Amino acid sequence: MKPFYTHTTDLSDLDHPVVEIRSLALPLTLRVPHGEGDVSALTSILNNEENTKDDLSVATASKEELEEISRKWTKVTHPLSYMNFLMLMTEGASLEPIGLAGMGWIGPVNQAAEQASPQAGAAGVVVNPSARRKGYGHEALRMVIDYGIRELGLAEVRIGTNSKNTGMKRLIERFGLKFEAGAVVDKFGNDFNWTIRRDDWLVLGE
Ligand SMILES: CC(C)(COP(=O)(O)OP(=O)(O)OC[C@H]1O[C@@H](n2cnc3c(N)ncnc32)[C@H](O)[C@@H]1OP(=O)(O)O)[C@@H](O)C(=O)NCCC(=O)NCCS
Repeated sequence: MKPFYTHTTDLSDLDHPVVEIRSLALPLTLRVPHGEGDVSALTSILNNEENTKDDLSVATASKEELEEISRKWTKVTHPLSYMNFLMLMTEGASLEPIGLAGMGWIGPVNQAAEQASPQAGAAGVVVNPSARRKGYGHEALRMVIDYGIRELGLAEVRIGTNSKNTGMKRLIERFGLKFEAGAVVDKFGNDFNWTIRRDDWLVLGE
């Protein structure tokens, strides 16, 4: 896969992490949120029922709880336990928030392992209704997966959705990945799950 984004990363200050990932294909930037402007942009994206109705983790949260979640994302932990991005569309000289993407969870591949285990991430994406069907969701998820595997060193990236979520299913199928239809619905309401392993991802598109 040819490089399709550039990035600036500085995680030396966990309270003020700098991560900005810029697409080379679309006017799209992902950044770890910083400042009250980003917190309020994220809160309003999460507060839009159209964006979260299928996500059991936030669908019933209050505005205050969503603000707290958004503020938490302005910081990171060591070792990393999540990394979420505000999705910004470049409009002339300004950047317009259009959604969010990232890893809501980062942790050991094998949570029961007593020894240090390779790390995995659970990826997701949300695009505001007005910005949908323009390729932003696919591009953002592609950036999140690639950045997670190449730059954060994740051994695998997991993605789950509900089988009724046609848009998300189509978006992931575009990567050419087979899903594992689960008989079990997880706590987020997902019954379709994909696991992207590092070695498989690195040869995709070669
Ligand atoms: C799912 C979602 C992220 C898609 O974002 P998007 O920016 O519209 O997606 P893209 O424009 O990159 O589309 C990717 C592919 O999916 C297809 N697609 C997107 N939405 C679709 C829909 N509602 N029905 C059918 N196909 C759809 C596109 O046509 C495209 O396929 P193509 O290349 O063959 O044309 C967006 O609809 C969304 O935010 N939904 C609510 C939140 C959500 O469900 N997130 C996923 C949680 S697991």
